[in-house]
Amino acid sequence: MKQRTDDDDFVPRRRSHLIGPAAQARALTAATARLAARRQRDALPHRIETPRLVLRAPIRGDVPDIVTLADNRRIHEVLARLPHPYTRADGIAFVEIFAQRPDERPYAVTLDDRFIGVVGFTYHEGEPPELGYWLGEPHWGRGIMSEAVKALLEAAFATHLYPRIKARALASNSGSLNVLEKAGFVRLREDIETLGTGAGKPTVYLMLEQPKWT
Ligand SMILES: CC(C)(COP(=O)(O)OP(=O)(O)OC[C@H]1O[C@@H](n2cnc3c(N)ncnc32)[C@H](O)[C@@H]1OP(=O)(O)O)[C@@H](O)C(=O)NCCC(=O)NCCS
Repeated sequence: MKQRTDDDDFVPRRRSHLIGPAAQARALTAATARLAARRQRDALPHRIETPRLVLRAPIRGDVPDIVTLADNRRIHEVLARLPHPYTRADGIAFVEIFAQRPDERPYAVTLDDRFIGVVGFTYHEGEPPELGYWLGEPHWGRGIMSEAVKALLEAAFATHLYPRIKARALASNSGSLNVLEKAGFVRLREDIETLGTGAGKPTVYLMLEQPKWT
């Protein structure tokens, strides 16, 4: 059987003559949006350096540190998609499956060559990419995520393919809202989240526009 590849998403379906013109137009719009998101994702650098940190793709060798740091209820409670308890299988799935998805671009945040957290984008068809992150609790409160986020945003803006970036945080998550507002994100609205572990909780939705001078 032929192995399915991501590029299959962009190949017009052979049965396209069986669907109506409106459905064909919708399929074309969706394929164009997927292609645009893929361009954004692939334009990002493989490695980003900051004064203290290196951001790079997560690797299998990160799994023990990922599991130790991610198996934390305080992180699970504020993230939409982090399982709890967090097992070795979850760590392997993050590196081998999640990080390879065409709609995800997570970077491992590393300090002195050790994994300490994640920062990256999720790509939604026809919408701005969404910034997300978490940092291992022993490293909180030292300006690390602010440094990582600033570097990733600069790298994204340098591609000129990221005119707008969105983000969201629970209204109670002052640390994350501080990181985002320090980076220039502005609050759009507050609403009740419907998905993930944040479902039912007040959530702040934010947006960042690429500054005109960059
Ligand atoms: C949110 C998180 C990424 C912050 O990382 P960090 O490296 O500790 O953040 P920074 O040190 O860069 O802090 C940024 C600002 O927020 C403030 N801050 C950090 N944690 C805070 C907290 N719990 N409450 C209030 N302010 C906080 C800092 O003082 C700093 O402001 P300053 O520069 O004016 O002093 C980290 O706490 C974390 O991973 N939390 C769990 C996961 C999470 O919340 N992910 C985001 C989901 S939307």
